Amino acid sequence: MKGLILAGGLGSRLRPITYTSAKQLVPVANKPILFYGIEAMAGAGIKEIGIVVGDTRADIEAAVGDGSRWNVEVTYLPQDQPLGLAHCVLIARDFLGDDDFVMYLGDNLLEQDLRRFVDGFEAARRRAATPSLDDQAPQPPSAQILLARVPDPHRFGVAELDGDRVVRLVEKPSDPPSDLALVGVYLFDPHIHDAVRAIEPSARGELEITDAIQWLIDHGHRVLHTVLEGWWIDTGKLTPLLDANRLVLDTIEPRIAGAVDAGSRVEGRVVIEEGAEIVRSTVRGPAVIGARTRIVDSFVGPYTSIDRDCEIVHSELDHSVVLERSRIEGITRLVDSLVGRDVELVRGDAKPRATRVMLGDHSRLHLP
Ligand code: DAU
Repeated sequence: MKGLILAGGLGSRLRPITYTSAKQLVPVANKPILFYGIEAMAGAGIKEIGIVVGDTRADIEAAVGDGSRWNVEVTYLPQDQPLGLAHCVLIARDFLGDDDFVMYLGDNLLEQDLRRFVDGFEAARRRAATPSLDDQAPQPPSAQILLARVPDPHRFGVAELDGDRVVRLVEKPSDPPSDLALVGVYLFDPHIHDAVRAIEPSARGELEITDAIQWLIDHGHRVLHTVLEGWWIDTGKLTPLLDANRLVLDTIEPRIAGAVDAGSRVEGRVVIEEGAEIVRSTVRGPAVIGARTRIVDSFVGPYTSIDRDCEIVHSELDHSVVLERSRIEGITRLVDSLVGRDVELVRGDAKPRATRVMLGDHSRLHLP
């Protein structure tokens, strides 16, 4: 079993952050989203991972390297233009060979581990290959999809079931046939290569993986499904990204490697990385404070991730994500916000007021 992670695309729903960096590298609890997918694959025993990359290839390569950190071997598969998820399978043909594979969308985050999903598919394929006498030889599955019940199915690929059978899949329908969204994790056998070659681009000009799976169904292949337990988030937009940050922070192991002075309080589930300093401040978890970040005369509230080399002075923030090397000074209070890299967010005097922003990398916002 090989792995295919999709980390190309445009990231237009997280602009301006994604003008200068890949959306799959936006951190959740100070770890790039993409790393969760790689870890999930490594945890499922997958050793060879292909990563589809677009314009942001250099950033992704710099962050991920050769995969040895996770004990996997990473191959980069450049995609000239984001022509769709099925197009990614098309360009990965040589890398994938005739192996089964798990495809994982690099901006998806899920609680459930991959191992059970992968094992279930392999077991179903083995059962089909070795039918017992009293068994009617079952057809081996060619794909397995993961579904989740969502309140807003029109934003996703949607599955229609007939009993336990998947009968129809539609991409972002205006009139969804069910509330079962396609989660961005799929298992395929090599028949998917015939499917991605056979389909035509959709109305939005992309080769849709949803159409390729529909092609498998229409051509008599067996497509299994599992309804997800636990949470799943497509992090491509601000609110889901903050939700993902909240859910992951709820699971971190508290650890204090940095310095907390006598005038400070650290409460609850908090990670303070090496070289970080908390000075006359309160950090109320769940929260993570990155390496060498300084929190001075400030309050960092629940569900906040502040990355490395930041400076937070005379400020209050909660339920926010701050990327590396940013400086926030005199801001009361910053909530539900995503602040990019190298941002300077400074208020001259500190009148209490709630501020909500989404600032791109290298922004400079000096409030009066
Ligand atoms: O998140 C689940 C949804 O993902 C599914 O329910 C949909 O059926 C599926 O089409 C997909 O929809 P999105 O509109 O959210 O896909 P997005 O364009 O965000 O791309 C998903 C990932 O794949 C993302 O990491 C970017 C990458 N990608 C995307 C395209 C279109 C590529 O690497 N190349 C591409 O050509």
